[in-house]
Amino acid sequence: MTAPPSSADRAALVDLARAHLWPPYTSAERHAAQDPLVIVEAEGAWLTDADGRRYLDAISSWWTCTLGHRHPRLVAALAAAVARLDHVSAGGAIHPAVAQLAAALCAVAPPGLERAHFSDDGSTAVEVAIKMAFQYWQQNGRPARRRFLALSSAYHGDTLGAVSLAGAAPGGFFTVFAPLLFEVAHAPAPGPAPGPGGEDAAAWDRVAAALEDRLARDGDTIAGVVVEPLLQGAGGMRTYPAEVLRRLRAATTRADTFLIADEVFTGYGRTGAMWACDLAGVAPDLLCTAKGFTAGMLPMAATLATARIYDGFRAGADGESRALMHGHSFSGHPLGAAIAREVLAIYRDEAVVAGVAPRAARLAATLTELAGVPGVRRTRQLGLVGAVDLGDGGYGGAAGPRLTAAARAHGLYLRPLGDTAYLCPPLTIPLPDLELLLERFAATVRTCAAG
Ligand SMILES: Cc1ncc(COP(=O)(O)O)c(C=O)c1O
Repeated sequence: MTAPPSSADRAALVDLARAHLWPPYTSAERHAAQDPLVIVEAEGAWLTDADGRRYLDAISSWWTCTLGHRHPRLVAALAAAVARLDHVSAGGAIHPAVAQLAAALCAVAPPGLERAHFSDDGSTAVEVAIKMAFQYWQQNGRPARRRFLALSSAYHGDTLGAVSLAGAAPGGFFTVFAPLLFEVAHAPAPGPAPGPGGEDAAAWDRVAAALEDRLARDGDTIAGVVVEPLLQGAGGMRTYPAEVLRRLRAATTRADTFLIADEVFTGYGRTGAMWACDLAGVAPDLLCTAKGFTAGMLPMAATLATARIYDGFRAGADGESRALMHGHSFSGHPLGAAIAREVLAIYRDEAVVAGVAPRAARLAATLTELAGVPGVRRTRQLGLVGAVDLGDGGYGGAAGPRLTAAARAHGLYLRPLGDTAYLCPPLTIPLPDLELLLERFAATVRTCAAG
């Protein structure tokens, strides 16, 4: 093992990064000025920086490390996998891990999802889903079905199809790309409301009714409806009632079009069930998963589809191939597949999803306490995701930098969404670490709420 860098090394690393690295979502000015965390080690819920300071990873490193960092079984699985096979393309070849993973994943998926297609990350899982839906209708006698329906305030990734689904609302994240996007019809998602759950039930009822109406009128032109089930993540940790998802399922079924569940964030136990769709008792036609899928160890993703959709890719009467026109160099990568297979085994052996409820109860107690702090507008929670709004500025809100700095001073790694401070720790975080994390989060919020 190499020695951790000294503080002189740390300064040199920051200089190198400032000179050559182009980090995501960071202006050149901020990149030049900010003093980044230099993380050299991670274990469980903890990150260690180059100065030996330790931070609790309150966001599971962008929501991926559901099992904490470097779970010993994943480290061992990776070493065992690479000792035998590094890579083989998915072109005309399979390997044990990819076949076993596809079967194991379909076995835990919502009912009816029987096929798994593997890609690289959450964005590509979504691209694949919309291409599957689109191509299905093109080659199965409904070519007018070219359009997707989605909710506003959604986030489905950064590639252009995923960006189209989110939409380029003026002043938003993606405005600059508007000329490159295809048209998507958006139903306006209501913002969070005060009170438990943080949902404006009446407003969501109107959204469901509008979507039902749209599907009844225009179903013949709609290739699918794409949603983050029950929880809009990057859009501000906005929850919505399970009934909305159930009504959407019923309306898409009536219109005979597809419901596409983007479970990249919500899947793998984050909301308290294996899939957020399970909480609502809904089975989608297509489901996208990433992040927890490899528990953050390697980049890999999956798009799951029903037998009906797969069958729509069999050769027609003319005998012409209708193969899915999508693939990646690393589709079904042997190392990623070995890790994803082991992740599912750990979920089973350690009853990971069942462990969410007791931890969520602890989170709920902290949120109740924070709801009474002057300056806190509202709180909300779903499973092991908790959010606190310090203002109504949304993503552009001013509280973000203050929250980040205060969290860091308290030994917490946090990435607020503007005015929204949120937590989504590893699902397996030991209870003493969770207690400490909640204490540090509460202290951070109190510091910043005071102004
Ligand atoms: C719901 C959802 N879909 C898709 C994505 C994109 O995933 P990735 O960043 O792995 O491309 C994200 C990322 O946060 C997400 O939250």
